[in-house]
Amino acid sequence: MRIGIFDSGIGGLSVLNEAYHRFPDQEYIFYADTRHVPYGTKSENEILHFVDEIVQFLITKNVDAIVIACNTATSVAVAAMREKYSLPILGMEPAVKPAVEKNGDEDKRILVMATPVTIREKKLAKLLMRVDVRHKADLLEMPELVCFAEREEYDSDSVRDYVRQRFMTVNATDEKYSSLVLGCTHFNYFKPMYREILGDKVQLIDGNYGTIRHLGEVLDITMAKEGDSGLIFNTPQDIVVTFKTTYYESGDEITDNIRLSKYLRMHNRLEFVRNFH
Ligand code: DGL
Repeated sequence: MRIGIFDSGIGGLSVLNEAYHRFPDQEYIFYADTRHVPYGTKSENEILHFVDEIVQFLITKNVDAIVIACNTATSVAVAAMREKYSLPILGMEPAVKPAVEKNGDEDKRILVMATPVTIREKKLAKLLMRVDVRHKADLLEMPELVCFAEREEYDSDSVRDYVRQRFMTVNATDEKYSSLVLGCTHFNYFKPMYREILGDKVQLIDGNYGTIRHLGEVLDITMAKEGDSGLIFNTPQDIVVTFKTTYYESGDEITDNIRLSKYLRMHNRLEFVRNFH
């Protein structure tokens, strides 16, 4: 099968990376809308327009299914895209349900981080109404974090100060919160920092596994078990050839090793952060 996965930028690679682990034999087209990143501070109309263009582009590449590897784009556009096109279109949503289930009867709360658009869209309100019946979730906008990720700035003093300040606005500690839900795919790159700031007791929960498992069900393909060791990417060709992937940035195919090495770095970072739960 050929699977199209897209995001505004590098966040969607965390979903692609999960797909590599679970469906190593499929073929992938990854599309980052680098010309328009970030989506999370743009208008709904703009986002809808970008998403529609990308979906049309991926359809011309004969994909069997599309994964919108972006919570923001999903919130705004997944319903409209499903109405307009007939192929399976999957989206992301903040993994509040597993966080509520893990929290159980504890008195602790759940912190859901996302972009401003995801937080103000009705889709999240509806999700909370359905799964957060005991009103345990607090929402936290992180408007700048996507740009830190795009600059590959995962560990600088300025990103650390930014995350600390945002956490302080809700008094985030491991006494207060049982889990931190990463409601934006770009937020995966910072897992070690959340752990450092919040301590070991807070669970870090993303929606990647859930989305990829759902993809397997929709396409009726069998999921590989989690291996003992991570994937090892040594050269750009490892990701392109081993995982039969074509990478695009806003419509341009990325073929040169210099630009592909950015993807290599991202996948290696994602392999590293994968062990932080
Ligand atoms: N990765 C996108 C998400 O999951 C980030 C959107 C943006 O570009 O702001 O929401």
